[in-house]
Amino acid sequence: MSTHELYTRAPSATNWQVPSAGSARFSWEYDDGRDRLLALYQKGKDKQWDGAKRIDWDLEVDPLDPLGTPDEAMSLYGTPHWAKMTERDRGELRKHYASWQFSQFLHGEQGAMVCAARIVESAPDLDAKFYSATQTMDEARHAEIYGRFLHEKIGLLYPINDNLQALLGDTLRDSRWDMPYLGMQVLIEGLALAAFGMIRDTTDKPLPQQILAYVMQDEARHVAFGRMALRDYYRQLSDAELREREEFVIEGCYLMRDRLRGVEVLEDFGIPKKQAEEYTEQSEFLALFRQLLFSRIVPCVKDIGLWGKRLQQAYVDLGVFELGDSNLDLLMAQDEEIAEKLDAERFAAEERDRVAEVDAAIRSGEA
Ligand SMILES: [Fe+2]
Ligand SMILES: [Fe+2]
Repeated sequence: MSTHELYTRAPSATNWQVPSAGSARFSWEYDDGRDRLLALYQKGKDKQWDGAKRIDWDLEVDPLDPLGTPDEAMSLYGTPHWAKMTERDRGELRKHYASWQFSQFLHGEQGAMVCAARIVESAPDLDAKFYSATQTMDEARHAEIYGRFLHEKIGLLYPINDNLQALLGDTLRDSRWDMPYLGMQVLIEGLALAAFGMIRDTTDKPLPQQILAYVMQDEARHVAFGRMALRDYYRQLSDAELREREEFVIEGCYLMRDRLRGVEVLEDFGIPKKQAEEYTEQSEFLALFRQLLFSRIVPCVKDIGLWGKRLQQAYVDLGVFELGDSNLDLLMAQDEEIAEKLDAERFAAEERDRVAEVDAAIRSGEA
């Protein structure tokens, strides 16, 4: 079925055009890559996988409870409005929230693909171009998988959130070549990764768990790349140039925290915008969720050298300053491990089933 028919409300146009301001760059130096970047490129090639095969698409999903996450995660929970809802309405609300969230993941993955392609085009060195070409493919696979999940298993899509679109547009329109890394790899992907992780670790539904665990395995490489490339580059920038980047980060962080929280879902349920915003503001679960959304961004910006006074103060105000001390390498290593462990468990279970089938066949033959 065409996506158009599955949108809760139609996007204003089928295409979105963002004029580009930067240069395409070629490098004639083919033999002088940085070892760490080339190692990441090699890893990107070695670790390609096919979502059509690795993910078990036969698993059924209950559209009225696609993720199995706690109802507290929805901002209506515990409000007078919630008390009046029937079980059926609550199921519809779960479906819409899951659709909204995964739709933002889907649009974000498309954005990541376009930004990775932009980096192929604009980065000055060939090692970064090679690596980003593998990431472009990774992001295409991610978009494919989220799109399939929404079309086949939920049957409902939300358009891109206005503020996510605005940040993506700012990231792409900027002519400085590091901005797609900063806006996309650090901010948007950092947020997405934290959200993926929270759902991966709380869902009891095998299909979304597989999708999130496997996508996160790839994202660990993407974050590693953003950190390496930006850390090297930001060492050479002047204080004024660094402050500009920090302002961009501060603005982006506030925008994502305050404006990317699914108010449009509640509006679809007939709740006026102002009331919907109040509910969202009051939800304790959401307050915690919104802080945890920064768990991947804060240590990353600190690590790449954007750690000026104003940025530190912004993180104190957001209540996320301490997250700067969390160990990103450890988080990334865990993301890779969780995906590998899931594979091992699934394939061990398949092997057991296969052996049992053979045994049964032999027994029936003997009988
Ligand atoms: Fe991705
Ligand atoms: Fe990514």
